[in-house]
Amino acid sequence: MDGADYKPDVEFDHASCLGESWGFGDHKGTLKALSSMTKKRGLVLVGEPHWLNEPDPEYLKAEDTTRDAYRNHIENVKVGEDLGLRCIYTLDSDREGWDHYKTLHWWAAEDYIRDNPGDPDITDLRAVNERYKETYLRWGRDTVGWCIYLFRKP
Ligand SMILES: C[S@@+](CC[C@H](N)C(=O)[O-])C[C@H]1O[C@@H](n2cnc3c(N)ncnc32)[C@H](O)[C@@H]1O
Repeated sequence: MDGADYKPDVEFDHASCLGESWGFGDHKGTLKALSSMTKKRGLVLVGEPHWLNEPDPEYLKAEDTTRDAYRNHIENVKVGEDLGLRCIYTLDSDREGWDHYKTLHWWAAEDYIRDNPGDPDITDLRAVNERYKETYLRWGRDTVGWCIYLFRKP
């Protein structure tokens, strides 16, 4: 189901959303939604990208996104705290983790292209994969981070 339509009839000790905040509008909408599902003193855990550096306009264009799509790290914390939550722990990505995550996509695409030469979508897949690599290497690696934020309700 669409996560945004999920309305539990109990309050949870802990609610989490790792990597799907667009379903609740954005980071703030996700924190609001999860907080509403959580008991007093319960935990809210959200995985969210953050800008490491101001994104290059060329990067935003290549990714078909906007500066406002994400916040920076401190803003991600403050958005939750402004909603009355307390941020008590963060687990941020590092470069090794990002490279692992991103380059496994390249590897899977290369394997698929090698093993399925007759697939009519191969040309498109190759082009998308090349663009994906270029965008990450040129900008993404130094532009976006991803962090797990743990908040507690008062
Ligand atoms: C980036 S993945 C993260 C998956 C998982 N949380 C993890 O950490 O491995 C995003 C997931 O959200 C799911 N998804 C996308 N839109 C959704 C929606 N509107 N409601 C519920 N799930 C959705 C996708 O199918 C995908 O499995």
